[in-house]
Amino acid sequence: MTLPQLQELKEIEDKAKTELAAVSDEETLEFWRITYLGRRSRLNLILRGLASLPLEERRQVGAAANRLRSELEELLSQRQAQLREAAVTAVVEGGHLDVTLPGRPLTIGRLHPVTQVLRDILDAFVSMGFQVFEGPEVEWDYYNFEAVRIPKDHPARDMWDTLWVDYVRNEEYPMLLRTHTSPMQIRVMEQMQPPVRIVSPGKCYRHEATDPTHEWMHTQVEGLAVDENISMADLKGTLYEFARRLFGRERRVRFRCDYFPFVEPGADMSIDCPLCDGQGCRACNNSGWIEILGAGMVHPEVLANVGYDAERYTGFAFGLGVERVAMLRHGIEDIRLFYANDLRFLEQF
Ligand code: DAH
Repeated sequence: MTLPQLQELKEIEDKAKTELAAVSDEETLEFWRITYLGRRSRLNLILRGLASLPLEERRQVGAAANRLRSELEELLSQRQAQLREAAVTAVVEGGHLDVTLPGRPLTIGRLHPVTQVLRDILDAFVSMGFQVFEGPEVEWDYYNFEAVRIPKDHPARDMWDTLWVDYVRNEEYPMLLRTHTSPMQIRVMEQMQPPVRIVSPGKCYRHEATDPTHEWMHTQVEGLAVDENISMADLKGTLYEFARRLFGRERRVRFRCDYFPFVEPGADMSIDCPLCDGQGCRACNNSGWIEILGAGMVHPEVLANVGYDAERYTGFAFGLGVERVAMLRHGIEDIRLFYANDLRFLEQF
């Protein structure tokens, strides 16, 4: 007497083969696969029921069921291949596909000129032992202004025309798009104890009319070093070395007094114009010098704002504009070109 399961397998086989012969598209084929090979197919039920059969029956039924499964799988992939080939032939013969047409060129991407320069700047500082920290572009008034000694209603706020965010209308904790990367000084010091040596790159925003040297968005790199015995000599040495790494060994630098509320004393640094070698040209306004960053010794009140012992620790900080450096490097005369999304410009770098 034949076992009922063997009988059933035979039925499944016949039915599956008949139906497969009638399949003419991939969707129906998928339906067929689910019916005969899917998890809830009769075949699978038989396979799953094997364990409960007596040994001899299990052998017979198991062998037959597995054989049928392999056979159906084989038929399935054959049919899949046939259908695909037929589909391609139909397109080619129907004249829809001209295999002799040249392919679409793959355009290869590249790094934005500002990103390239930014990476060089960060490399120069990383190789001098600085760590890279990034922070938020939407910032609290506290970090952007208060904690770096620019209180409300202080005229120094005029140096940074601000884009306010009124998502949270809160007089006490106003929100803004950061106008510089200096708030990162505070965020970093809140998280670590000296020695601190960090650089922090990122975008900054200003409520500003644009012209060839002003954009409402630009990129800065902030730097901060705090430790025992840090002096102005460390500031000058570090930034001089940076300038030479980035602009060439022969560069000279010039420091002049400048005012920033979060440093004391404050300075700006210029390099001798790389375009005319300090002779005077259009790029340097005939002065021979180009200002590239602001810097200074961290104000003791800034250190105290994060709970550092300002008697024990001193530090220097600096901030530089990355677009400015990219413009110098490539002789670009209008900052607005960077973000105008014009490929004719971008493809040159
Ligand atoms: N935050 C200043 C700006 O946006 C740049 C700056 C000047 C940063 C002096 C500093 C600094 O850390 O010490 O204009």
